[in-house]
Amino acid sequence: MSESLKGRVALVTGASSGIGAAVAEALAAEAAIVVLMARRENRLKSLSDAIASKGGVAEVVPTDVCERGEVEAAVAGAMERHGSIDILVNNAGVMPLSPVREARVDEWERMIDVNLKGVLYGLGAVVPIMVKQGRGHIVNVGSVAGRRPFPGGTVYAATKFAVRALSWGLHLELGAEHGIRVTDIQPGVVSTELFDHITDESVRDSFSAGWKDRRSLQPNDVARAVIHAVTAPDHVSVSEILLRPTDQPT
Ligand SMILES: NC(=O)c1ccc[n+]([C@@H]2O[C@H](COP(=O)([O-])OP(=O)(O)OC[C@H]3O[C@@H](n4cnc5c(N)ncnc54)[C@H](OP(=O)(O)O)[C@@H]3O)[C@@H](O)[C@H]2O)c1
Repeated sequence: MSESLKGRVALVTGASSGIGAAVAEALAAEAAIVVLMARRENRLKSLSDAIASKGGVAEVVPTDVCERGEVEAAVAGAMERHGSIDILVNNAGVMPLSPVREARVDEWERMIDVNLKGVLYGLGAVVPIMVKQGRGHIVNVGSVAGRRPFPGGTVYAATKFAVRALSWGLHLELGAEHGIRVTDIQPGVVSTELFDHITDESVRDSFSAGWKDRRSLQPNDVARAVIHAVTAPDHVSVSEILLRPTDQPT
């Protein structure tokens, strides 16, 4: 275990699987105190046990990021226990891809609720604390889709463009004046459960067929990028990291 983040308090949303779980483990391996937030408590508990078995510290705080009160309570609880919030990783997200002509408005709303409003609730609870502290680091997990939409991913891309705009604006408002750093992580295809929730069968099938013989990123590849950003010296704000599988041309 390295000690580069010793005693820092890090909140990770969507920590129950995929990228969030890998980021939480990596932060704990740097000796941060990690607050695990997501809805599936059993998954968070297994992760916190795994982290503890390696000498790390992780707390389970079941949270639905679509519920503003739950996010606020999770942040307030962490403040009460530890007295500061040093890192917020806004990672929770959903990606039910489908062609826009199918007008799956319920799924569009879900993406707005989790990928955008969930991030805003995190920011609303944490930014005032970081401003008071005069320091902090916000990591938003955006996507390559936040730079370039793709067919079937129009609304998903819209949420990730919004996350990128937020990240940029946060730097302008909170960087020089308040010492808060902001990073927008933009992965290409990562092997996680994200694709299992695509309800449009033809999109899901063509996606898995297209990636059958290609190497995607692994969650830990993204976690390494997050650690690079949050362990940079205080005067360095790593604003954006775009990382794609070598086998992903777009
Ligand atoms: N995989 C990729 O190719 C890829 C590429 C670029 C960007 N991303 C982004 O990476 C982030 C993580 O996705 P992933 O690939 O790791 O997928 P994943 O394995 O499906 O993880 C998604 C996480 O989000 C959580 N989540 C979903 N709805 C939530 C809610 N209402 N409240 C709290 N947590 C919620 C899930 O936890 P619970 O279900 O337990 O709540 C889960 O922990 C997302 O923002 C995604 O858009 C992924």
